[in-house]
Amino acid sequence: DLSDGSRLTTLLSTIRPDEVYHLAAQSHVRVSFDEPEHTGDVTGLATTRLLEAIRLVSPESKFYQASSSEMFGATPPPQNEETPFYPRSPYGAAKLYSYWMTRNYREAYGIFACNGILFNHESPRRGETFVTKKITKAAARISQGKQETLTLGNLDAKRDWGHAKDYIEGMYLILQQEKPEDFVLATGITTTIRDFVKMSFAELGIELGFRGKDEAEEGYVVKNTGEYKLEEGTVVVKVDPKYYRPTEVDLLIGDPTKAMTQLGWKPKFDLAALVKEMVASDVSLFKKELYIKQSGI
Ligand code: GDD
Repeated sequence: DLSDGSRLTTLLSTIRPDEVYHLAAQSHVRVSFDEPEHTGDVTGLATTRLLEAIRLVSPESKFYQASSSEMFGATPPPQNEETPFYPRSPYGAAKLYSYWMTRNYREAYGIFACNGILFNHESPRRGETFVTKKITKAAARISQGKQETLTLGNLDAKRDWGHAKDYIEGMYLILQQEKPEDFVLATGITTTIRDFVKMSFAELGIELGFRGKDEAEEGYVVKNTGEYKLEEGTVVVKVDPKYYRPTEVDLLIGDPTKAMTQLGWKPKFDLAALVKEMVASDVSLFKKELYIKQSGI
């Protein structure tokens, strides 16, 4: 429980870990607008609790802080380790507090504490309320006639998406350096939500077109060569402003030059491979789900 500092101290003193990867958080940006105080506690202050526990009982532990591209927020790209921060959500502000506390414990107490400033990283394990998984899951279901539409928020936002497997390797490399430092991990390529939707449906043989603007925008079937009969012109994507954020991060493009040159980090997956894997996984999960239903397990 990240709100329980004494428990964290007891755990750290019992385990005395070589490395601590602090990935826990209230990590949903939209939810942070509804729960700003809880987000500040769990995503912000909890980092200080962990750092204090390390300082007091396990100062040899190396510490990795999961900093986020959301800290850049409205600062124009490309974003790297030198870019000024401008968070646009309670989540981004809480992460920025954690970023500075990590640096402070490094500078004040000599703790091997590092920030990995990670741009969006996805995989089939992504939670269903994040946009990539929401899209791939819906595409899988719609392609089988088990769901009619996918309802999203802002289709124009652009994200620099990578594969979580590559980013985990980067986190590990960050803690294996001689000196503690901060690193940006990103692909350097940005894509709109709309294009991620198109790529996901295309994996299933469904070509989508988009028409209309803002709330009236919709995605429809242009051509379907998939398994299930979905008529041309059928609307499968809609927009609902309830998914808009009070303040949005419109454009993220990371510059991972430092990680590439200093850590030798190089992502193995591109966006096409990521989409393929996520869609295939959702199709197979969906088929298992159907099997379980039909066989009554
Ligand atoms: N979740 C969601 N749901 N996002 C939507 C939707 C929708 O229905 N429609 C459009 N979007 C847009 C959001 O407005 C945002 O611009 C973009 O899709 C991505 O949203 P998320 O997938 O929720 O991720 P995020 O970019 O806000 O934050 C993720 O990445 C950060 C950087 O690594 C989270 O994992 C953060 O915890 C992480 O720090």
